[in-house]
Amino acid sequence: MHRRGFLAAGLATVLASSRALAQTKMDDMSMPGMGGHAGHDMAAMAQDAVILPEGQVLRDLPMLANEADRPGLFRARLTAEPAIARFAEGRDTPILAYNGMSPGPLIEAFEGDRVEITFANRIDSEASTIHWHGMPVPADQDGNPMDPVAAGTERVYAFELPEGSAGSYWYHPHPHGKTAEQVYRGLAGAFVVKAKADPIPAEYGDTMLVFTDLRLAADGSIPSNSMSDLMNGRVGDHVLVNGQKNPRLSVAKGARRRLRLYNATNARFLKLAFDGATMTIIGSDGGLLAAPVAADEILLSPGERIELVASFDMPGPITLYTLGYDRGWMGPGRPADAGLTLLTVDVSDSEAETVPQLPARLRPIAPFAAPVLSRRLVLTETMAMNPTGMEMGFLINGKAFDMGRVDFVARAGEIELWEIVNQADMDHPFHVHGTQFQVIEHERDGAVSKPPYLAWKDTVNVARGETVRLLLRQDRPGQRMYHCHILEHEQLGMMGVLDVMS
Ligand code: C2O
Ligand code: CU
Ligand code: CU
Repeated sequence: MHRRGFLAAGLATVLASSRALAQTKMDDMSMPGMGGHAGHDMAAMAQDAVILPEGQVLRDLPMLANEADRPGLFRARLTAEPAIARFAEGRDTPILAYNGMSPGPLIEAFEGDRVEITFANRIDSEASTIHWHGMPVPADQDGNPMDPVAAGTERVYAFELPEGSAGSYWYHPHPHGKTAEQVYRGLAGAFVVKAKADPIPAEYGDTMLVFTDLRLAADGSIPSNSMSDLMNGRVGDHVLVNGQKNPRLSVAKGARRRLRLYNATNARFLKLAFDGATMTIIGSDGGLLAAPVAADEILLSPGERIELVASFDMPGPITLYTLGYDRGWMGPGRPADAGLTLLTVDVSDSEAETVPQLPARLRPIAPFAAPVLSRRLVLTETMAMNPTGMEMGFLINGKAFDMGRVDFVARAGEIELWEIVNQADMDHPFHVHGTQFQVIEHERDGAVSKPPYLAWKDTVNVARGETVRLLLRQDRPGQRMYHCHILEHEQLGMMGVLDVMS
């Protein structure tokens, strides 16, 4: 059996770095044939499943107010601190929140703006940072794990938003070893950079759909990561949209809506479709595509974003729901990922007023020129048994993350070809900080295919057994992380450091 083969191979592996390894007692293991118990947290979950209310009106994310006194500047404060949320009737849930809310407030700024955000860390005795996922900010403003903001202290993050940088970004903590936990406890928010001239008709609106993945214990608390969570990435019990379960959106018949979908979950792959609305992809992680692309379904892996125009031409309730997607799972407890209703859209009988057409061209995207060098990054998973339990590692080129080590040195402004080779048993969504790249090729079992359209991306899923080739250029000097955006895998070592020289 494939899985057994993988385990046997993994047991023989000697792991280089003990720092990045998960250790657990065999008692907590729940793998067939491994002598462990049947997953106790799975059983507990089924018995005590907490019911969350559904069908509330989809709320707009509260905006982070701009306190600047002049145009062209966005100045605000973000405070990370413990808060109490009420997801389920009669149960208090201790969470971590930005400015008291989860997801954090929506940040909206314009191309050309200067941003100055004071970050206050009021998390009890834990360092944190704010990382501006996907944004072209200087390395020393990007919330690297090397630049922690100690508990009880604050710092200012300052950067300019270059022309052409309009897109759907997000922000989340990135402290060493604590990113996964701080995110699943509630710290993540959307950051939209708007273009001064936007080709998408204003009549479509601009609706944020930020997906998070909540797990609640019977008492309303958020449980810590189990062994299975560390291996597979933490998949929760409730996919929330802007913090709500299956909320409702009302539109007129014939209306079109611009939707920005964010996968802000730790590890849940979302394969999405509407039953009764047509979808047109208009943008990716780093902003608009060159031209709209019709789509029946969309795979949004952890960390990715997509911009859509949905056309609601049929009356009645229409749902945004999930399809099954096998991203590789170790051990029992593979979550049922198909058939979840994430959002319900009530389409009224009254017709929408004149709905403008989507332009045929959105913006030019210039393909990258030929690369000056290429790099190969091989993703692997390892397991080893020792007297105290099972050790796991998620590695890039055989190494676990080390903050003090530079894995690659690059030169600012040079185009590079990166070949990401997934030799592991799970899909790994690969992310690079500080820039946007262009995927040029997928290869699987010797078959090479081109992506269906050119797009600016900062996160791309690399399916198990697949190789993805991408072109990228870092324009600013400094240290940049690249890693799997299953945050538990990042925590267990699947991350490296690129040092960009000027
Ligand atoms: Cu969302 Cu290191 O990134
Ligand atoms: Cu990032
Ligand atoms: Cu991964």
